[in-house]
Amino acid sequence: MTALLEVSGLTKRFGGLVAVKDIGFSINAGEILGLIGPNGSGKSTVMKCIMGIEKPNAGSVKLDGTDVAGWPTHRIARHGVGIVFQHARPLHRQTILEHIQLALLPDNLFMLVTDHKITRRAEEIAERVGLGQVMHRLPRTLPFADLRRLELAKAIARNPKVVLVDEPFAGLTAGEVADFSALIGSFRAEGHAVLLVDHNVKGVAALVDRVLAMYLGEKITEGTAEEVMRNETVRRVYLGGKIETAARPDREGKGHTPLLDVRGLGVLYGKATALDDVSIHVGEGEFVSVVGLNGAGKTTLFNAISGLVPFSGTVAWRGETLAGKTPGAIARGGIVQCPESRELFGDMSIRENLDLGGQHLTVAEAGKQLDWLFGLFPILKARQGQAARTLSGGEQQMLAIARALMMKPKLLILDEPTLGLAPVILEQLSKALEVLRQTTDITVLLGEQNVTFALPHADRVYVIEHSRIVWEGDPGRFAEEAGAGYL
Ligand SMILES: Nc1ncnc2c1ncn2[C@@H]1O[C@H](COP(=O)(O)OP(=O)(O)OP(=O)(O)O)[C@@H](O)[C@H]1O
Ligand SMILES: [Mg+2]
Repeated sequence: MTALLEVSGLTKRFGGLVAVKDIGFSINAGEILGLIGPNGSGKSTVMKCIMGIEKPNAGSVKLDGTDVAGWPTHRIARHGVGIVFQHARPLHRQTILEHIQLALLPDNLFMLVTDHKITRRAEEIAERVGLGQVMHRLPRTLPFADLRRLELAKAIARNPKVVLVDEPFAGLTAGEVADFSALIGSFRAEGHAVLLVDHNVKGVAALVDRVLAMYLGEKITEGTAEEVMRNETVRRVYLGGKIETAARPDREGKGHTPLLDVRGLGVLYGKATALDDVSIHVGEGEFVSVVGLNGAGKTTLFNAISGLVPFSGTVAWRGETLAGKTPGAIARGGIVQCPESRELFGDMSIRENLDLGGQHLTVAEAGKQLDWLFGLFPILKARQGQAARTLSGGEQQMLAIARALMMKPKLLILDEPTLGLAPVILEQLSKALEVLRQTTDITVLLGEQNVTFALPHADRVYVIEHSRIVWEGDPGRFAEEAGAGYL
């Protein structure tokens, strides 16, 4: 069999940092290679070098025998390589269907053709990826998973020989991962060569033919998923251990002094109901998890609490209503949200982003907090001067969490913090939350669809489904009473 994609000696430097070092592999037609490794190990950079988004410093990228290394992206795309990005950036004014139509057109015909055949084909693709019901809607009105589907739909439309898929499973539920796996599997069945990056180890292992593991830009090992996951170094630097929690610190009165009290919350986006009669409460020192699938309403709930979207009903904080307060005033009052979308200042450095978070602290306090956070996330310390925009996906997530903690919140709202984090970092984050819980009186409201992360820490769990709270209870009872669809 001849390799469709053959990469050898690939190297990419950013200043003094060698992000990718002498990486080589080949992928045959009808084969899926998984690329795994901790956050910042160079996986996305490998993809960008293949796609021509970054110019490699050395090495070759052979497509069907032609070395395309260093070519501009549009030529590489025309030569048959497509990328499905880690973060989707859809156009705002085009519908889902129009996005797919655009991807079907050769680039010189951009927007000039309204061919019925193209429309038919676009509709077929929308159906195939599960966007049939929403194809006439605008991307911003759709939940996160649908935007990921759109990216896949565009890749199918462009029909590249080699498909690079960066973190398709991030933020998806088990059911959605199965759907996406089937779609990616169909690329294989149609004879494409697929390079797949994801931190969902189970999802990757089930789908790929082979796995290559990277660490600090270099290849650690390559083999079957089973072989690679057994590798000692892979276990140590990537997989880490199980998420565990210590016995709960049973502080006097914990969970009794009400801190946040949300009653009868309703939010409409246009005519669509995003939240319907939602009531939750969080007591001082409690750790409360809100579990729900994508699009269920978690982010809307947090945004309402943070004063970012208008709502009906009441939100009270320490007995006082938050109605009419600005998001800034709410944050200064102690409610700090680490949003799913991260909202970092891309052109500012890590340090500047953190300093902004700590601007209301005294110099001494800020210094102490910074030290603590640098201990938690050493990579942030090592890279203080790096622009946030150039950080890897997982590094950005760590920065967003650190910036929220820098504000010394009374109530920390974490919206899908596990998104894009390597297993070993999840374990670290989990430990960090545990330390927070044991050593401070911080109160946490966590939104997750990843229940293996959300349950171990929680004192109490809410399940939100289709804009409503449908279950509330003890995490120990979750599995039998509400677990279907999550576990
Ligand atoms: N333009 C850039 N300038 C400086 N450093 C960069 C740039 N782009 C990437 N890096 C660094 O190169 C390293 C590799 O990044 P890359 O995005 O390839 O990691 P990754 O393996 O995809 O990680 P993740 O799993 O977190 O997405 C990271 O440490 C990142 O900070
Ligand atoms: Mg990446």
